[in-house]
Amino acid sequence: MLLVTGGCGFIGSAFILQWLAQSSEPLLNLDLITYAGNPHNLDSVATHPGYHFVHGDIGDSALVAGLLAQHRPRAIVHFAAESHVDRSSAGPLAFVQTNVVGTLKLLEAACAYQGSLPAQQAAAFRFINVSTDEVYGSLEPGDPPFTELHRYQPNSPYSASKAGADHLVRAWHHTYGLPTISTHCSNNYGPRQFPEKLIPLVIHKALGGLPLPVYGDGLQVRDWLHVDDHCAALRAVLEKGQPGQTYNIGGRSERTNLTVVRTVCATLDELRPLPGGRKYAEQISHVTDRKGHDRRYAIDDRKISSELGWSPRVAFEQGMRDTVAWYLDNPQWVQGVTTGSYRQWLTQQYGTA
Ligand code: NAD
Ligand code: TYD
Repeated sequence: MLLVTGGCGFIGSAFILQWLAQSSEPLLNLDLITYAGNPHNLDSVATHPGYHFVHGDIGDSALVAGLLAQHRPRAIVHFAAESHVDRSSAGPLAFVQTNVVGTLKLLEAACAYQGSLPAQQAAAFRFINVSTDEVYGSLEPGDPPFTELHRYQPNSPYSASKAGADHLVRAWHHTYGLPTISTHCSNNYGPRQFPEKLIPLVIHKALGGLPLPVYGDGLQVRDWLHVDDHCAALRAVLEKGQPGQTYNIGGRSERTNLTVVRTVCATLDELRPLPGGRKYAEQISHVTDRKGHDRRYAIDDRKISSELGWSPRVAFEQGMRDTVAWYLDNPQWVQGVTTGSYRQWLTQQYGTA
């Protein structure tokens, strides 16, 4: 079986849903259910015989050691993290605690467990560390995209904490021989993303008749990767990736933030038109820029494409349309997550829930 950490979050839940739909191998989800963890993401597999859930912290060494000994997974796919850049500049400590210290504790437990396995199983064991392209820093408009050899230049407390985790993962491979692989993906989008991130935030605010906050000039560029493509890439890495290696995963869809927001608005105009011929784009509002805002991320995916045979399948325009449609079709999901600490965060960040 697999041990997945952070499986109640956006990408982890997509991975679990895809895995259980395509494999008969069972899976154990260890999640602390922070503000970003939503067990309802996995309602459709809650009674699936291959799905098991444990509420707990990756930093709880005794818990993790017990789970590994009991369930004897062949791999750990590590998603659990604090993941939002704006939160990281407002409160970096939680990022270091979860992303760096939590990953360290998980590595220690994984290493002790892997060392206890018979030689063949120990060699086949994998620790997949789901990292980000943000560890590479920021590109200028004409720069070539990030390869796996790009130097680390993290600019936010979030990316610095993920870089710290990556270095530990590398060291556990080099020093202790743990069969680790790190992946660096670009910005994911798709269903069930917490509405603090750009795309679900804009959909939510647009439907609420609120201003759509675009930081600065909105000409920052991100590469957008559909979450299902990302999960397929992780499955390829798990099956065919080489221990000690890193793989960049992108969507071949660089867009400015303004283009992304306008695409969301145009899709809403079509699927949920406003009365009186008004357009959602009229709600776009340029607000104060993010501190230390990275200008551009872009991925060179030639390594994963040539070595593991993976490439993205979802075209950005179709993926965006499906994503907007999913949020329109699932208002109860949005309502469920727009309560509690999320509201406090929105008030702190934007002065409105
Ligand atoms: P998310 O914030 O939606 O989910 C994180 C999950 O981790 C939540 O379910 C949360 O409850 C859980 N968690 C947090 N701390 C925990 C702990 N101490 N123990 C156990 N569980 C804990 O994040 P996401 O967007 O799904 O991202 C998943 C991973 O992918 C992260 O490592 C993130 O850095 C990375 N990543 C995300 C993106 C993106 O676009 N979302 C891009 C690049 C990389
Ligand atoms: P985000 O979804 O937070 O992901 P990341 O910071 O990991 O790239 O932000 C995506 C881009 O959108 C980023 O350049 C910041 C910008 N952005 C806004 O312009 N307004 C917003 O309200 C948010 C949340 C993000």
